[in-house]
Amino acid sequence: GTYSIAVLPGDGIGPEVIEQAVRVLNVIAQAYGHTFHFQHGLVGLAAIEAEGKAISEETLATCQKSDAILFGAVGSAQHGATVKPEEALFRLRKGLQFFANLRPVRPLDAMLDASSIKADILRGTDLIVVRELTGGLYYGHLEPNVPGKPSEIRETERGYEAIDTLLYSEEEIERILRVAFDTARERRKKVTSVDKANVLSSSVLWRRIAERVAKDYPDVTFENLLVDACAMHLIRQPASFDVIVTENLFGDILTDEASMLAGSMGMLPSASLGTRRTAHGLFGLYEPIHGSAPDIAGQNKANPIAAILTAAMLLRHSLGLKEEAAAIEAAVEQCIEAGYRTVDLREEGKEILGTREMGQRIAER
Ligand code: NAI
Ligand code: MG
Repeated sequence: GTYSIAVLPGDGIGPEVIEQAVRVLNVIAQAYGHTFHFQHGLVGLAAIEAEGKAISEETLATCQKSDAILFGAVGSAQHGATVKPEEALFRLRKGLQFFANLRPVRPLDAMLDASSIKADILRGTDLIVVRELTGGLYYGHLEPNVPGKPSEIRETERGYEAIDTLLYSEEEIERILRVAFDTARERRKKVTSVDKANVLSSSVLWRRIAERVAKDYPDVTFENLLVDACAMHLIRQPASFDVIVTENLFGDILTDEASMLAGSMGMLPSASLGTRRTAHGLFGLYEPIHGSAPDIAGQNKANPIAAILTAAMLLRHSLGLKEEAAAIEAAVEQCIEAGYRTVDLREEGKEILGTREMGQRIAER
């Protein structure tokens, strides 16, 4: 088929790794007879310098019209700018209502022995965290329905005090849970809902809704887990999880923890989805979980695998091209099995490749 993909490489290593992802997508297009129209746009520091904004209205409009958005990373070592490069991500996520952030974690067999976590514990780990991305503590300050100032630092007679608001509506909780259950149906049919229902009202409501939604999915095994216990189980028995669903802050913390199961930030892709459909799947924003890595930018050192696996997620979720997505994932696995590594995965006896060379090997396969 014919598809339109907005490409926003951004800053630092963003353009380097996205170039390799696009290279792999071009190989897929040729092999399977598809046409991908790539619409390039500026985001982050690059956009601030050229257009005065972290993302222009024109670029946002291009994104709106596309089937999916492929995003690199934003941010730089420079500080003190009046416009923050990260504003681009905020506008894309909140503005386009990408409320469901999917982060799969699957340590590759060929890398298990080099991991800092025991191979026996890691083996068989294949989980996905479904993180709520547009609500909770991160957005309390924007909530118009909360009286007073819901998030602030204020001065009192006893010194400063601070307040944050953790607000979730029934609708927000239910829609992210449904994404988790639908995701589980395509996988090993297990959902772990993570909360802090022994302490937080928002978690009590979350758990109540989770139990109600679970009834609509009798074919999916369902469990509740407190977030502190989840943090422990992720390290003790990561292979026991299939789909983990949780609110914004818990998801932020647990996914950083879970990224270490896969060995490097340079290995993990992500997808952010909403409810808007394209002709072929869900409209989505796709980005590696890592940042712009100014310390290695411009040196052909960055690991392009996270960006390439991100492209595979784009094919699967937004374009409905499952076989093509699996082909990319298989090619990555073959390269790791063949002993190719980038510097972040440095391992004795393995061949170290640059960003372009790793991208090329994956494209060849
Ligand atoms: P970072 O993810 O950019 O880098 C952390 C460490 O991991 C660095 O040592 C870096 O060299 C390494 N690393 C990251 N990706 C790698 C890859 N693909 N291959 C090999 N090594 C890799 O996080 P950091 O340093 O905290 O932030 C740098 C900038 O990126 C900041 O401006 C930050 O705000 C921004 N950032 C942007 C994100 C985004 O665009 N979604 C996410 C996280 C940070
Ligand atoms: Mg984080």
